Amino acid sequence: MVINVEEDLHQFIDDEIKGYLEVVEEEIFEHIGSDSKLDEIASYLIRVGGKRIRPALLIVAFKAVGGENIDKVVPISAAIEFIHTASLIHDDINDGADMRRGILTTNRQYGHIKALVAGDYLFVKAFEIGGRYPQEVIQMIADACGDLAMGEVIQNENKFHVHMGRDLYEEIIQKKTAALIRGSLRVGAWLGDADEDQLDAIVEYGDLVGQVFQVTDDILDIRGDVGKTGKPVGSDIREGQVTILAIRAMEVLQGEDHDELVRILTSRQHSERDIARAIELIEKAKAVDYAYEYAEDLAEKCVEALHRLPETEYRDRLELAVETILTRAY
Ligand code: IPE
Ligand code: IPE
Ligand code: MG
Ligand code: MG
Repeated sequence: MVINVEEDLHQFIDDEIKGYLEVVEEEIFEHIGSDSKLDEIASYLIRVGGKRIRPALLIVAFKAVGGENIDKVVPISAAIEFIHTASLIHDDINDGADMRRGILTTNRQYGHIKALVAGDYLFVKAFEIGGRYPQEVIQMIADACGDLAMGEVIQNENKFHVHMGRDLYEEIIQKKTAALIRGSLRVGAWLGDADEDQLDAIVEYGDLVGQVFQVTDDILDIRGDVGKTGKPVGSDIREGQVTILAIRAMEVLQGEDHDELVRILTSRQHSERDIARAIELIEKAKAVDYAYEYAEDLAEKCVEALHRLPETEYRDRLELAVETILTRAY
């Protein structure tokens, strides 16, 4: 099984973690067959890879608090990847996206209805696995899924709302992205028998690293290389997603530049020239640099939270994870 780990993430996902992820990969495919059409649609996106960052963080958190037997977290790591995949399938329907992981999105390949059902099916698979775990674990995952769904709804309601502001942006990224990352880390630490302080530290770390992850995803939407990310540049502009880069650019730009950017961002129909021009204006406003600084501030707080954990090689890996997530967009 080929696990597509972005080269830039290799320091954090080293050989040891890669070995664990291979076991998670086997677990994933034990739950998804290939005999039914539904299995085919649900596993379409899983088969082409993905960074598997949530299972990786879950396992490292488990180890960082002294968890030993990896078998304890392998099934739940697979469940988290099912939930993540379901959220991507639903997100692509929501965003009307055409391309993910370098191939057509599930909705483009099979149609909206089938994609919707396949996403639901993956949620069911995840909770089927979750059912073998203590109630606390199921609750943590249910909370993350609830936040995620809420984040997607709030984001959807605010598409093209260029004046939605930073508070709403922060709320959206905390819910749609950080909640599942935080939840994964929390489950890992809880199953590793973390004490109360360690759990708090891990949850704080997860909330912050999840936000760093989304801000870098937003940067990659402007500066990314489709060959690496598997997603076309400028999708957020096409979809009406107001990111921190757009917010900053609108604050900085004046006069005609400002008005032109607002016109493009609020338009429902874009030419390729519009997208290129919006990116040019965002670059002119140095909004990418600003977003890096914004992510850097979050990353610093993230590392501070980590220092409340015992000093181990796994804590070092969590620290490396923040750094590599931050720099993957450089
Ligand atoms: C994409 O998640 C959705 C966001 C939260 C930005 P990933 O970047 O983890 O996607 P894959 O799994 O590697 O494709
Ligand atoms: C990711 O947000 C949110 C999810 C919960 C999947 P995006 O809309 O930015 O993710 P991509 O860019 O489509 O992967
Ligand atoms: Mg999307
Ligand atoms: Mg994105």
